Amino acid sequence: MAEPAPSVTAQRAAAYRLRCRRVETPHGDPDADERLARDVTASLGFTPESRMARYLQARTAFFDRVVVNALERGVIQVAAIGAGYDARSLRYRRTGVRWFEIDHPATQADKRRRLERLQIDAHDVTFVALDLADGGTDGALLDAGWEPDVPSLFLCEGVAFYLEVQVFEGLLRDLRAVAGIATRLAFSIMPPVSEPARVARRARLCAVVEALGEPALNGLTSGDVDALLGAACWRMDEASSSSPRAGLIVAAPKRRPEAGT
Ligand SMILES: C[S@@+](CC[C@H](N)C(=O)[O-])C[C@H]1O[C@@H](n2cnc3c(N)ncnc32)[C@H](O)[C@@H]1O
Repeated sequence: MAEPAPSVTAQRAAAYRLRCRRVETPHGDPDADERLARDVTASLGFTPESRMARYLQARTAFFDRVVVNALERGVIQVAAIGAGYDARSLRYRRTGVRWFEIDHPATQADKRRRLERLQIDAHDVTFVALDLADGGTDGALLDAGWEPDVPSLFLCEGVAFYLEVQVFEGLLRDLRAVAGIATRLAFSIMPPVSEPARVARRARLCAVVEALGEPALNGLTSGDVDALLGAACWRMDEASSSSPRAGLIVAAPKRRPEAGT
């Protein structure tokens, strides 16, 4: 993706999410999330498309549920990779839980400026500016204070599409390097398409994001997930709410025989 413009696909995702039904919790600050999303949406000027709105509703419900379930089972660290303008870090904030957000410097700087202007407190969020194409996500997280041995959650929503295959493979390895056995990784990936109408829609989506300067950089689909996870020492978490056909995946670390971690 060309820098230095803030990501428009991330702004559009925030605009769609503003219309989504959200999982509610007794803790957190959903109002802060919505204020940020409204601010982003106000400057956008695009017409939401109904099929994409349905997809974003399903994806949002999946990631909301993954976060809320993780917090209920005692996760105390969450990292959103390619966070964009997602603000689950605020919506689901909870005492004792540390949030990390990784994104391109331009997008992250724009988000932080908006948070400051809106006087939204994000003291419990550690922002890490990084181009994932450069690798080193594990080191960047550790430098920012990430603790590899505590129960944690990685979120990677709507990002895989924009990374070269080897960059996504490297990201999965880097995240595994700083994941203890109780950690989970949730990500979305394109479902495979074969019918002509769906193939045409996928091609239109690729043309739209390319025109926005954020081209799709791989043809990976959920059919590739088992191989991708296996090569990076993850496995599909059968006990979770994964929906591989929809490209909504939760992975758990595979044990490394030599280290037992
Ligand atoms: C479609 S947006 C999704 C944003 C957010 N996860 C959401 O669901 O609202 C894709 C995000 O990936 C980020 N991204 C894409 N390529 C990246 C890269 N090479 N390094 C860091 N971030 C990247 C973009 O900046 C953007 O925030």
